[in-house]
Amino acid sequence: MVKKIAVLISDKGTGSNLDAILQAFDNSQILNGKVTVVISDKKDAQGLIHAHKRNIPIEIKSLKEYLQQGKTRRNYDHDLGQILKKKYDIDLVVLAGWMLILGSEFLKYFPNKVINLHPGLLPDGDSDYLVLSDGVRIKAIRGLHTDAAVQFALDHHYPVTGSTVHFVTPVVDQGSVIIRSEVKIKNNDDVKTLYHRMKKEEHKILPKAIALYCEDRLFIRKGRVIIKDAETGSA
Ligand code: GRF
Repeated sequence: MVKKIAVLISDKGTGSNLDAILQAFDNSQILNGKVTVVISDKKDAQGLIHAHKRNIPIEIKSLKEYLQQGKTRRNYDHDLGQILKKKYDIDLVVLAGWMLILGSEFLKYFPNKVINLHPGLLPDGDSDYLVLSDGVRIKAIRGLHTDAAVQFALDHHYPVTGSTVHFVTPVVDQGSVIIRSEVKIKNNDDVKTLYHRMKKEEHKILPKAIALYCEDRLFIRKGRVIIKDAETGSA
């Protein structure tokens, strides 16, 4: 069955990852799936243009309006979950620059069905550190968004940073890792140059993770993601 996907964005990013996802569908790099709705918490999010262009339904769900009406953050999470579940019958929720932490009121509708793109390298499990492919150990960058996460790697003189696609759990930036991509930091890098190279990688790993999900090739075993082999089907 074709997986119905919701992509959640905000006005903090440029929507480049949403664009990369939609291009991957256009180029048949993702099969067996369809973006059926794009959600933003702000009506002027730049990325909405990509949904408009392809006539993909858009929902603006403003948290600010909820709070002004005397409703709570839990109400917001609950109602957002209901819309995606009941109105759109969503199979996979993709956070691509979404800024709000989604609590269990939302996640209960989508157990192991929400993935996030994080602009820092995250380890498997709850460790505070991870070992890079060249053996160097660095501290995980958690709880920081966009530019702040990139700046952190520069401020702490990391040799390498990168981005991670992971399943979302109620504990922020700690769900099982699907794919991470390392990016070497150059001596003369600033946030702009480094983030530019990180985003190029993000535009590959997020569509890749979605493709794996749509092919039913992702499993979680003892908190770790296992990717089923496309040929043999073994995990
Ligand atoms: C990405 O860099 C992602 O890692 C972070 O938000 C950013 C969104 O960028 N969570 P864009 O709007 O897709 O360009």
